Amino acid sequence: MALKSIKGTKDIIPSESSRWQSVERRLRDIMHSFNYREIRTPVFEETALFTRGIGELTDIVGKEMYTFTDRGGTSMTLRPEMTASVVRSYIQHNLGELQPLSKLYYIAPMFRQERPQAGRLRQFHQFGAEAIGGTNAEVDAEVIALAVSIYEQLGVKNTSVRINSVGCQICRPNYKTTLQEFLKEVYAQLSQLSQQRFEQNPLRILDSKDENDKALTQNAPLMKDFLCDSCGAHFEQLQRALRSLNTNYEVDGRIVRGLDYYTKTAFEILSTDLGSQDALAGGGRYDLLVKQLGGKETPAVGFAAGVERLLITMEKQNLFTEEPLHPGVYFVSADSSSKEWIFQQVHALRQQGICCEMDFLGRSLKAQMREADRQHAAFVIVVGEQEMNDAAVQIKQMKTGEQQRVAMNELQTILSQLVNRT
Ligand code: HAM
Repeated sequence: MALKSIKGTKDIIPSESSRWQSVERRLRDIMHSFNYREIRTPVFEETALFTRGIGELTDIVGKEMYTFTDRGGTSMTLRPEMTASVVRSYIQHNLGELQPLSKLYYIAPMFRQERPQAGRLRQFHQFGAEAIGGTNAEVDAEVIALAVSIYEQLGVKNTSVRINSVGCQICRPNYKTTLQEFLKEVYAQLSQLSQQRFEQNPLRILDSKDENDKALTQNAPLMKDFLCDSCGAHFEQLQRALRSLNTNYEVDGRIVRGLDYYTKTAFEILSTDLGSQDALAGGGRYDLLVKQLGGKETPAVGFAAGVERLLITMEKQNLFTEEPLHPGVYFVSADSSSKEWIFQQVHALRQQGICCEMDFLGRSLKAQMREADRQHAAFVIVVGEQEMNDAAVQIKQMKTGEQQRVAMNELQTILSQLVNRT
């Protein structure tokens, strides 16, 4: 039996990869205009990085990581997200010394063993940005504005930005107790998953997907109403900064995020075109993570977004207009006398960066013409004995049917002008 790709993973075949490339190019341009620089880290790390960084009790660490023991006996994990790896790298290379506010971005594959469904994969891709070194709420606003600008500039509609504050070590413990007191009353009716979260991670009960849990927690106290002065002021400043950029947002006290490292700002960008997996992007502030992973106390904020979810949304909204890659010139050989000359011409044109093609399968003239058409070649040149004798060829522009006769010794120059113009 032929082998197939693993459930929850996808091949990006040539008919799709041009879309990925065009989106990736635009993402990079936008990241660069916000002055973020690319960081690439290994796809696997020591497991301890993620258990310490993301939190032992999260779904990601508890249920979803691809963890294996290597031949040296060390526990390794395919990264389920980038923030922990970026922070590890930031500490290891003293990036903070080079740049007090380090602005880093990535576009990379991530791995989570979740139940696959539309918009949810086991190997998926994220683009994201991390700003490490700033406490100011304007940095949070810049990160949110960057994410929003990406969707805007790509023409994506039907999105909404939800923001919240999840507090800090000072205000969260008090709130947690208040929330547990409220939840105690309805504990017996909560879903099994929410009951499991009650002790250690009761905030996550607020973003339970279970309809009954939602109804039971409708009037639950929310973190945003229990913030300490510092977190409260930060949340106010964030909103002021977002308003000054005319970035629309809604405060949603139920956004808690599924990773433990967040402090203060938490946010999500949702799309109404995604069905149940409606989060395009998520992020927030993580002021304790750098220290927790062995660095100096350093505030930070960032976001990550699913590339596949972006592409699904763009496809739904018909935002792909670009034509797939096609040859500028297709050489058709009318007989064997021209083969070698064509082979050399194609090579020489490629040296000038012109995409061109010829037949390698010994096809008939008619079949070669069909192939040139199928590949949407901009120009076709038919060469046979006659052309070889005359040392001249006809260049046919496929869109208009226009033909022009060109001497063979001028062909390279003329084609490089013509093809660059199309
Ligand atoms: P996250 O919310 O776990 O955050 O993931 C961010 C985005 O990745 C999601 O909103 C979604 O678009 C996409 N995503 C997550 N899981 C899957 C999946 N199984 N299949 C397809 N797409 C998926 C983080 O990863 C944090 N590191 C974000 C962050 C950066 N916070 C601060 N800095």
